[in-house]
Amino acid sequence: MGDIQKSSNIVWHEAQVSRDMRENMNGHQGAVLWFTGLSGAGKSTLAHAVEERLHRMGVRTFVIDGDNVRHGLCADLSFSDADRVENIRRVGEVAKLFVQAGMLTLTAFISPFRADRNQVRHILGDDFIEVYCNTPLDVCESRDVKGLYKKARAGEIADFTGISSPYEAPEHAEISVNTGEDSLDDCVEQVLAYLQAKGVIGNV
Ligand code: ADX
Repeated sequence: MGDIQKSSNIVWHEAQVSRDMRENMNGHQGAVLWFTGLSGAGKSTLAHAVEERLHRMGVRTFVIDGDNVRHGLCADLSFSDADRVENIRRVGEVAKLFVQAGMLTLTAFISPFRADRNQVRHILGDDFIEVYCNTPLDVCESRDVKGLYKKARAGEIADFTGISSPYEAPEHAEISVNTGEDSLDDCVEQVLAYLQAKGVIGNV
């Protein structure tokens, strides 16, 4: 991301309160659960259900949600390829800040491009946990919770993921959940089991 740096004469300031200190106080690690999948695949639903369980366990969490972020931080971005790239870049950087703050961060974005997700993986390293919400297009379209697929098919929404804009499925996601077939509870358990096995929430 160094190639987009426009400001000069800036010097990094090291905090006295470190990430380690925050994590010790919290009793768990910071990390990012990066939910990716088609619109209607159940990313937000699963992220919020996982968050609810974690919260009850005493884990400090926050969900950063695509639809919500596009009302504020990313209100200036469209669904063109270039703007989606910028959307994911910003969210990746925000998620990195949240991890430094010691939070177990959950992000719910279509994030259709593999290269962009890999860029976030690159900046977050081991803190990045990709969760592929694998619901086939026909299932998402038949659910059409927000009525957007119908509009996209009618040509009323341009660049709609899965219809007129691509979705590149993850090849090596840490967690892959069949949000189209398995129950929400089963999917939540799969994510929690991974976090426990990896030691992210081992101390709580
Ligand atoms: S991303 O591609 O840049 O990651 P993001 O997750 O922020 O997308 O936003 C996706 C949400 O915006 C969808 O859940 C849907 O409700 C809405 N949306 C509106 N227009 C589009 C579009 N053209 N393609 C996909 N989603 C859209």
